[in-house]
Parts: sequence; structure tokens; C-alpha cells
Amino acid sequence: MVGLTRVPGLLFGGDYNPEQWPEEVWAEDVRLMAEAGVNMATVAVFSWSRLEPGQGEYDFGWLDRVMDLLHAHGVAADLATATATPPPWLVRAHPEMLPVTADGVRLEFGSRQGYCPSSPVYKREIVRLATAMAERYRDHPALAMWHIGNEYADHTLECFCPESARHFRTWLEARHGSIDGLNAAWGTSCWGQHYTGFDQVEPPRTAPGPVNPAQVLDWRRFCSDALLELFEAEKAALRRVTPELKVTTNFMSILHGLDYWKWAAAEDIVSDDAYPDPADPSSHVGIALSYDLMRSLKQAPWLLLESSPSAVSWREVNAPKPPGMMRLHSLQALAHGSDGVMFFQWRQARYGPEKFHSAMLPHGGTETRGWQETLRLGADLGRLAEIAGTHATAEVALVLDWDSWWGLEAPESMPSNRLRLKDLLLSWYRPLHARGIAVDLAPPGRDLSGYKLVIAPNLYLGGEELLSYEGELVVGPFSGVVDVNDQVRDGGAPGPLRELLGVRVDEWWPLPDGTAQKTDLGTASTWAEWLRLDGAETLAHYRGGDLDGLPAITRKGRATYLSCLLDDVTPVLDEVLARAGVEGIEVPAGVEAVRRGDYLFLLNHTTTQQRIALPGAGADLLTQTAMSGEIQLAPRDAIVLKETR
Ligand code: GAL
Repeated sequence: MVGLTRVPGLLFGGDYNPEQWPEEVWAEDVRLMAEAGVNMATVAVFSWSRLEPGQGEYDFGWLDRVMDLLHAHGVAADLATATATPPPWLVRAHPEMLPVTADGVRLEFGSRQGYCPSSPVYKREIVRLATAMAERYRDHPALAMWHIGNEYADHTLECFCPESARHFRTWLEARHGSIDGLNAAWGTSCWGQHYTGFDQVEPPRTAPGPVNPAQVLDWRRFCSDALLELFEAEKAALRRVTPELKVTTNFMSILHGLDYWKWAAAEDIVSDDAYPDPADPSSHVGIALSYDLMRSLKQAPWLLLESSPSAVSWREVNAPKPPGMMRLHSLQALAHGSDGVMFFQWRQARYGPEKFHSAMLPHGGTETRGWQETLRLGADLGRLAEIAGTHATAEVALVLDWDSWWGLEAPESMPSNRLRLKDLLLSWYRPLHARGIAVDLAPPGRDLSGYKLVIAPNLYLGGEELLSYEGELVVGPFSGVVDVNDQVRDGGAPGPLRELLGVRVDEWWPLPDGTAQKTDLGTASTWAEWLRLDGAETLAHYRGGDLDGLPAITRKGRATYLSCLLDDVTPVLDEVLARAGVEGIEVPAGVEAVRRGDYLFLLNHTTTQQRIALPGAGADLLTQTAMSGEIQLAPRDAIVLKETR
């Protein structure tokens, strides 16, 4: 049982904002934390203005007392560097550090994350504060890990101010070497954009018409890197003082804005904030995909650092979690490799934009349903302690590449704006998930040789990385289209994959909204292609319409190509799974089956009792009961079966 930190077992707790409460309340907080089995609290995330009310005037006293109290009650601290919101005095002294939109509007103070990612002042000040925090708490026994910033890119992903422009130019010079290099990469001969100096280059601000897509692609890369520089600067400051302590920053599930492969490589622990919508009966599927990404980022256990006990406060309508759902969703994160369950937040706020966001300890106190659910989960996590540190393996990988994603979803210049990467990923993930088949996510450059089946739902950009993979391969539509600079491959798609797949795309055939295109293996909407065979055989033809009789799905050797977005990929998937020799776990619809090491999680996401034939025998850790054969799983209930070998 090796945990993520020195805290044994699974981590349990949440964001703790004691500065929002009088000190008398703190004693009750820690007493109730101990009662619920809380062993970790995230502190000081937005505390900069309270820790440093004026430049260099630190007020650590209150946080010292909080840290002492936590420690005295057996609660470790995921201590934030407190840099997520710069204080008003800093912003007023340097108003140029507030972010500017693409339309040139400078955003005001009064919310959070009010900083330009390229501001040298902000960067200098966060390094100073992180250093002060590290020096203050380096030897504090409560300190278990560092929480750098908070949800990078949540409110501030990009800034279009002159400072950002300078930073962007430096980044571009490093990437392209010279202005000629940039001109070639960006194809500036189009629309008269030829530059003669880097000083003429700007971020892609709002322009009269569509902005050069290669410029936008580099901007997306730059924005991810610029925020990562901030993270790295704080990490370096912390490492100087506390080299042995692990660092994390909380990710935001599967997110377009940041290249999480790059980010995860910079952290010691991957952590995630996950907020599936309780009102969406299929939200557990999308979130499972995110959890599998988190596990795959470092191919190791990760941490659910934020989730909501019940309702959030930022949707149009904030549905609560009905009884049992919070527990079920928490167990789901564990099934997919989290080494704990943490929430936003410990005590429900009485003011501010999140006063209606649920918490582990609701406004109504210990009499509430919410508190009873907190106690129940705490007890369950205690029973599951032995799963900490165990890892799930998968035979199937879904390829995910941020460059490709950014290129694919570039605004204004694509054959169709309807082709969205998450839809493409989910079209495969959904049936895999329903079949109880474990899935890893993988960047195209990772060694894929350990997988029996690799599916690239879309690789708009690149593609050559797949050539070395020798197993069963499926490639989705609109792949191998452009190179790293978003320039179309000579001879057309699928570019570097042409020979492997044995096909050529003559023409994109996006399907207008509300229309569909039939194939022998199901109906496509959104997307189709006019395909020519060049060595492949046809598995399914298009039927009807202008594409009638043309190949829709093809195969050459071990490589299958889908030129369309099928509404249901099941027939193709079942066939390739059989070819690859991948088997799942049979469960009723709405029941999720996930293996993590020796443990089989069965999670009933439906509101009815389900009959399940267990694939093996073992003991349910939650109820300490031996089980085999057929079992009944109550609505929104779960079992965690320790399988006997
Ligand atoms: C996260 C954030 C938390 C809290 C939470 C509410 O985005 O990190 O501070 O705002 O959402 O759901």
C-alpha cells in the first residue's frame, strides 16, 4: 500500500477555506474532520491577499494556527502556494498585469485568476510568495504536498496585451528560428501576410476576417506553454527549499486549452477536478474517459483533488446529487485509479459566488443528508485503504494529441465546424466502456507496442507516429491531413498513413446538419469522405446519396480506416476487438465494470436493481462479504470485489 504522499491509505478531504470563518469555527471543523475520517485538506488556494495584505507584509499567523490544528487532528495539508489570485494592492500597483481579451478589453479585478500569464510582475511575485510559503512551512508536520496555482486556464487561458505579444514573439523565435522560418511555417504568402521582422507579429487578436490558422495553432501551443512556465517557476522555487516534497496542480478533466501530456510530465502527482453533471444520466461515461486520461498521463495512480458533494454553483441549473450518487461517483474515480477522493469544499460558504455550491459539511450542519453522506463515504474509504497505489492496465489505447485537437477545432477555416474531438473520442470510448474494457489514453509518440488494439479516433495533424505500431490499428476520419504547421500534405490525406491504410481521400464530404449518410455498417452523420482504394479492401460501402457504392470503411492488413463518423461504431468495434483478442466484462447497461489491480469495481449507475453474473469469486471490501455467481446490485450501489486468484 504505497500512497501518493506519506499519508497512508486513500486520501479523503477537501478544499478548506478557514479564512472565511471566525476562528471559533475552526475547532469544530477539525473535530468534524476527524469524525468523518478526513486525512487531507487543501488550504490557502486563494489566500494571497490574507497572507500578504501589503507588499512584503506577511501575515502567516492564522495559517500557522490552521496548519497546527490540522496536524493535531490527523489531517495533512495539500498546501497551496496561494498564487491563484493576485491581491488588489499588487493589481492596483501594476494594472498592466490584468488580462486583456482578443477584443482589447482589459478585465477588472473582482473575480479570481486576474493575471496575464506573461506578466513579468506576476511571475516575479509568485516566485517570491512560493518561496516565502516554502520557507515558512518547510518543516511543518502537516505539510504533505504542494498545490501550485489552481486550475490553470480555468478563467484565464490567454491574454492579448502587449506583454503577451512580446512573450509570444520570443516563443515564436525559439520555435521558428528566423522570420523566414515563421513565414514559411505560417504560409504568410496567403492573404499578403509576409512579415519582415518579429516586431510585426501579434497574437491572433480579433481581426477583420478569419485569422491565419497556423498563427492560431501556434498561439494555442504558446498559451499552454506560457501557463506551464508559471507552474515551472513556482515548482523551481519550491524545489529549492523543499526538494523532497511532491508537487501537483489540479487539472480540469479533459481540457482543450492545455496540453496535459506536457503538463503531467512537469508534475510529481497528477490530480484532477471532476464535475460530472448529476442531471445527465450518462455523465459517468464522459467522466470515466477523463479519469482514464488522468491515469494514463503518468501511467500511475492520480488524485481526484476536487469533486462536488452535491450541486455545483456554476451551471445554468445546478442539480443536486440524489442519495448515493456522491458515493458512487467517488468510488468510480477510485476504480479508474485515483488514490483518494477530495471535494470542493469542506464547509459550505456563507458568502461569495460559491455560497450555493455544496460542501462536505452543508449550511445545515451535521443534521443534514449531506453530512450523513460524507460520514458514509469516509467509512467506505477506510475499508478500501488497501487499493491505494494499485494500478490498472489496459489492452486498448485511444490516441489523443493536443496539436491535432487544436488544429481540428480551429475556428473559421475547416470543412465543417461540427467535427469535435471529444465527440470522436466518445464515439469509441462509450461502447468500450459499456463492454467493461479498460482503456488507456496515449499520445501518438508513446510506445504503443504493449497494446493489442490502438484506436486513433482522429489525428488531423501528424500521423507518422502510428507507422511503427504493429498491432491492430483503427484510424478515424480526417486524419493525416496536415503537418505540424497545419499545411496540407502533398497528395492529400491520409498523408503519411496513405500506404499503411491503403486509401486516398479525394474530397471531404461533411454532412449538413440534420442529414445522414447510410453505410453497410450503420449510419453516419456529421462527416463522410469520397475515398479511393489504393491497396485496401472495402469493409463497408456508402449506401445512397452522392457517395453511393464508394468505400466508407476499409482495411489493409491490420489497419482499419473509417472515413465517416458513425453514430454507432459497435459493429466495427466488435470485429476489431475479436481480431485483437480483447475481451471485456459482461454487465447490464448502466453498470460499469472496472478492474484496478486485483480489485473489480462494479458500479450501478442506474436507478433500478441489477442482476450481475460475477466473472469470478472474491470478497466485497465494502460489505466484507464473500461473493460469487450471480448477485443483485441495488440502485446506485457498488461492490469492490477483491478477486481470489
Ligand atoms: C473549481 C475550483 C474551485 C471551486 C470549484 C467549484 O473550478 O478550482 O476553487 O471554484 O471549481 O466547483
